[in-house]
Amino acid sequence: MAMIRLETPTGLEMSVGEAMFTQRAIRRLDPNRAVSDHHIKLILDAGSKAPNGGNAQPARYLVIQDKEKIKSFGALYHEAWWAKRRDAYGWKGREDMPEGSPYRMAAQLADEMVNAPLVILAFSTGGRFEAMSVLPGIQNMLLAARALGIGSVLTTLHPEVMDRVYALFDVPQQMTFHHCLPFGYPRGRFGPTSRLPTAQTTFWETWGQVPPWAE
Ligand SMILES: Cc1cc2nc3c(=O)[nH]c(=O)nc-3n(C[C@H](O)[C@H](O)[C@H](O)COP(=O)(O)O)c2cc1C
Repeated sequence: MAMIRLETPTGLEMSVGEAMFTQRAIRRLDPNRAVSDHHIKLILDAGSKAPNGGNAQPARYLVIQDKEKIKSFGALYHEAWWAKRRDAYGWKGREDMPEGSPYRMAAQLADEMVNAPLVILAFSTGGRFEAMSVLPGIQNMLLAARALGIGSVLTTLHPEVMDRVYALFDVPQQMTFHHCLPFGYPRGRFGPTSRLPTAQTTFWETWGQVPPWAE
């Protein structure tokens, strides 16, 4: 039987362990360094390889590099981000944000989205499992970006801006919007994340029984 050679695309040689264990939300992006079309394709190719319900492949992506379009989109992203905080906490602006709030960096991204070198919007064509089928692809894209030294973060929008986002990019109404991902070379660093130990999030054989590594 002929062997199928499974090649690692050039640029994605970083071990999956290193990529997973150093991938974190990168919100501070270098506005002056573009992501090449070659790397954009690699990121999208990696996304396309992800699991999805019934292999129906409902995810669709819109790549935005045009500076003027990103400026217009960034203004809508800013409005959406604050609309989410208003709905959740009644905040109207930074003055309402408590000292040391974990949202500080996300608020900075809301300010800086206008300068992102690249934005990819993730949609789906609809159908069963559509949202669940989009997310694995996005995680693949984040990992591929990490391997290329490109930062990103998964973000969402708010219903208040959706009509204007669709109109800005001529998105057909039958597409369902899921996520917005800014990409760029980090102004900060990749590195470890802070997560609950798996011993606290996992049960073994019976709910409530700790896994062997917790004992
Ligand atoms: C469903 C989902 C929605 C998110 N929405 C936003 C968002 O709107 N804005 C943002 O800056 N980050 C957003 N994030 C990123 C999370 O804040 C981030 O993954 C989390 O804080 C962990 O960050 P870390 O990997 O750097 O530790 C979102 C992540 C997920 C999975």
